[in-house]
Amino acid sequence: MAASELWFSLLLAAAFAGLATALWPWPQYIQSYHRRYTLYPNNFQFRYHVSSAAQPGCVVLDEAFQRYRNLLFGSGSWPRPNLSGKRRVLEKNMLIVSVTTAGCNDFPTLESVENYTLNINDDQCLLQSQSIWGALRGLETFSQLVWRSAEGTFFINKTKVEDYPRFPHRGLLLDTSRHYLPLSVILDTLDAMAYSKLSVLHWHLVDDSSFPYESLAFPELSRKGSYNPVTHIYTAHDVKEVIEHARLRGIRVLAEFDTPGHTLSWGPGIPGLLTPCYSGTEPSGTFGPVNPSLNNTYEFMSTFFLEISSAFPDFYLHLGGDEVDFTCWRSNPDIQKFMKKKGFDDFKQLESFYIQTLLNIVSAYDKGYVVWQEVFDNKVKVRPDTIIQVWREEMPVGYMKEVEAITKAGFRALLSAPWYLNHITYGPDWKDMYAVEPLAFDGTAKEKSLVIGGEACMWGEYVDSTNLVPRLWPRAGAVAERLWSSNSTRNVDFAFSRLSRFRCELLRRGVQAQPLSIGYCEQEFEET
Ligand SMILES: *[C@@H]1O[C@H](CO)[C@@H](O)[C@H](O)[C@H]1NC(C)=O
Ligand SMILES: *[C@@H]1O[C@H](CO)[C@@H](O)[C@H](O)[C@H]1NC(C)=O
Ligand SMILES: *[C@@H]1O[C@H](CO)[C@@H](O)[C@H](O)[C@H]1NC(C)=O
Ligand SMILES: *[C@@H]1O[C@H](CO)[C@@H](O)[C@H](O)[C@H]1NC(C)=O
Ligand SMILES: *[C@@H]1O[C@H](CO)[C@@H](O)[C@H](O)[C@H]1NC(C)=O
Repeated sequence: MAASELWFSLLLAAAFAGLATALWPWPQYIQSYHRRYTLYPNNFQFRYHVSSAAQPGCVVLDEAFQRYRNLLFGSGSWPRPNLSGKRRVLEKNMLIVSVTTAGCNDFPTLESVENYTLNINDDQCLLQSQSIWGALRGLETFSQLVWRSAEGTFFINKTKVEDYPRFPHRGLLLDTSRHYLPLSVILDTLDAMAYSKLSVLHWHLVDDSSFPYESLAFPELSRKGSYNPVTHIYTAHDVKEVIEHARLRGIRVLAEFDTPGHTLSWGPGIPGLLTPCYSGTEPSGTFGPVNPSLNNTYEFMSTFFLEISSAFPDFYLHLGGDEVDFTCWRSNPDIQKFMKKKGFDDFKQLESFYIQTLLNIVSAYDKGYVVWQEVFDNKVKVRPDTIIQVWREEMPVGYMKEVEAITKAGFRALLSAPWYLNHITYGPDWKDMYAVEPLAFDGTAKEKSLVIGGEACMWGEYVDSTNLVPRLWPRAGAVAERLWSSNSTRNVDFAFSRLSRFRCELLRRGVQAQPLSIGYCEQEFEET
């Protein structure tokens, strides 16, 4: 990202003056005043409170201080502005950060507490939180509160913020199978996720089209199943880098290895794994879903998921389970024989058999799991702590009815059906995504509490690194605010003005976010 260059051109911008800030997502509680303080870049620093549990050496916060310094002021040095003849205003040269528990080497979890309070007044410039993850969210808010006058002086107004997320799981799905996304693109996406306080990267690593994950136990998978086994893969080192980059921003990485459908790319690397489809009495030469009738299948899955369980430290794995096409299973005489032996008369039972066996394997590795809604729809028996992700817009029922049914059955739910960012239409489609109310279903308070959040999804059929960023931003921001802010934050005009400014801020930070409507950003105007 060329944030510093962009910032340099912004230096020349005279017209940025007095613009209200681009707070996105909107905090739960904020009071701001018409009283401002100056910040001098050369003097300004982030500092740990003496009694904070985290102190220098806490990598998550040390690095965040560095990042936010650069985002705010660039990496250059700044002459003290000439203020003679100007009314002096109070200077704030330090943001004091205080956390109650350290956990600097931990990974963020679904249970992480992201609450924080920010107090900027005559006596204080203080960020307090229980956890380092809350401190990260507060630093982002702080950075969005700083503004510049026409003369180039930095200011922050007297402000009080008390903030926490409405839902803990605020995700973004990236698909690296339909098109390979270079590592740098994933890392940049994590940066922009942190700017909008998203908390989960759902990494849909593999699918029918390609298998870019380089497995240590089964290197043939990517050798034979990737687009290019040298350039279009994610090595163990790449995966570690993604996970650490995410951790430093308070973002979990939820890895998805979808089975038994969506697995064509697994076939070449693991002969015998997929079901041979038949045309009449002869194999047709094509393959269907994973073959659920063979013991080898489960032996392979045991070894494979043992590796995955340790490669991805998050408690949860996403096991897929969507869109299993029964045609090929139906055509195969060995599968028919297996069904008869098991007494199954419906392919859903066969699917259930496969998924239950897989879930038992993964549970034994001390992992929780997320699955797509079909697993619930097809009545697969799952552990009570399973998380079900709702993605189908209408079938078999409207998505809110589906959320209702899932939570009534006592399972936790994730909503993504209305948030498919890969679908595009002419005009401001972010407004529909913004208008969604994830708890708009008939349910008790207990049932509603089972909705743990949702995900914006960016499926990759028509998306690669050329168009990913403008298609993601700022539209993903609509979902980010819906999942962070209070349910009463829903005025579209207010959202539009803030999201437009947030988009300009994304540009300033080097994210090529597309415009929301007619208009311009001050720094763009100055650049041309
Ligand atoms: C910040 O304070 C200045 C006056 O010092 C005022 O003009 C401006 O509107 C305030 N901004 C916000 C967001 O309250
Ligand atoms: C600072 O600004 C004042 C007028 O506002 C000017 O007279 C003075 O020369 C300036 N000082 C420097 C060091 O540029
Ligand atoms: C975080 O904020 C929520 C909402 O106010 C509150 O219910 C919860 O107790 C807070 N958690 C902590 C640890 O302060
Ligand atoms: C597969 O495993 C089951 C249970 O361990 C066993 O009963 C069955 O005979 C095995 N089938 C084959 C074909 O090895
Ligand atoms: C927001 O949540 C409150 C409390 O749960 C509820 O009473 C209210 O109806 C909700 N508002 C909307 C617009 O959903």
